[in-house]
Amino acid sequence: MQLRASSDASGVRTAMVNGMRGKRVVVTGGSRGLGEQIVRLLLAEGALVATCAREAAGLKALDASLSEEARTRLLTEELDVTEPGRLEDFVSTAAKRFRESVGPAAPDDVRAAAEADALDGIVACVGGSRGGAFEQTDIADWAATWEMNIGHAVRLTRAALPCLRGAGGGSIVLITSISGWKPGPPAQYGAAKSAQIHLAASLARELAPDGIRVNAVSPGSMLIPGRRWDRMRKEDPRAYAAFAGAELPGGEPVTPQEVARAVVFLLSDWASGVSGAHLPVDRAQNAPSPYGY
Ligand SMILES: NC(=O)c1ccc[n+]([C@@H]2O[C@H](COP(=O)([O-])OP(=O)(O)OC[C@H]3O[C@@H](n4cnc5c(N)ncnc54)[C@H](OP(=O)(O)O)[C@@H]3O)[C@@H](O)[C@H]2O)c1
Repeated sequence: MQLRASSDASGVRTAMVNGMRGKRVVVTGGSRGLGEQIVRLLLAEGALVATCAREAAGLKALDASLSEEARTRLLTEELDVTEPGRLEDFVSTAAKRFRESVGPAAPDDVRAAAEADALDGIVACVGGSRGGAFEQTDIADWAATWEMNIGHAVRLTRAALPCLRGAGGGSIVLITSISGWKPGPPAQYGAAKSAQIHLAASLARELAPDGIRVNAVSPGSMLIPGRRWDRMRKEDPRAYAAFAGAELPGGEPVTPQEVARAVVFLLSDWASGVSGAHLPVDRAQNAPSPYGY
């Protein structure tokens, strides 16, 4: 086995077996946050990656930040994963484009993997919540939250199954949250994330005969520049310190780069024996927010 050393955006040195080279992976929501870090790590490890987001600007910025070589292995599309049919079309386009993009000059292992419209992995990363506290949240908010998290994960998986089978098996990773098993408001978010954890465990059994592994990854509160916890740390340092003191035994939230490494491990052949698992990446966090549990 050949080991290769590299470092991620946070400067942490990583060394992975060359197991992602030439693998074809679809990641939803890859223009920022956790999805972006998964996409970056997959590209650094030699994978072919397709990702989507609603706004073109984020996808363009991601593309522009990559090396010319990495850009040839990335397919991006502007779409809303909750829009009927768009995600399904994106998955089949990605599998087709991956096959077509591999030219005769590509290394033997990459060419061999590209003989059919096939995928080796998918990551359902888009997620979030609509509405607020229980009595301020209507049924439309519940439905939208469900669709954004579990609905899109189900449709992504259904669309990708023929391509995963076409590759002789593969790996599915659903991004859930510690909110899915450490209860705290908003209930609609935790309930949808909890359903994703159950979905992964159930599908792992159903799809095992096809060589398809399914796992759930639950990030803790992630420190993402400009997002909730980073804003709270800057705008209300006392509240942030109280939250960190009470809920983060390690003193610091996890970073999206740390979560991305766990996701890429589960996509890789190193995790060939791991299926039906629920992997929290939360540095032993207690409640998911200042309001739970
Ligand atoms: N942030 C946290 O602390 C945290 C903690 C635990 C779990 N999680 C989970 O981890 C995952 C990633 O969270 P994050 O905070 O990194 O997300 P984020 O910063 O909100 O980024 C989400 C990504 O998904 C895209 N996106 C959002 N809605 C979309 C839609 N309907 N269709 C297509 N693309 C869409 C966004 O781009 P556009 O806006 O351009 O569409 C962006 O690229 C989610 O499932 C979340 O529930 C997050």
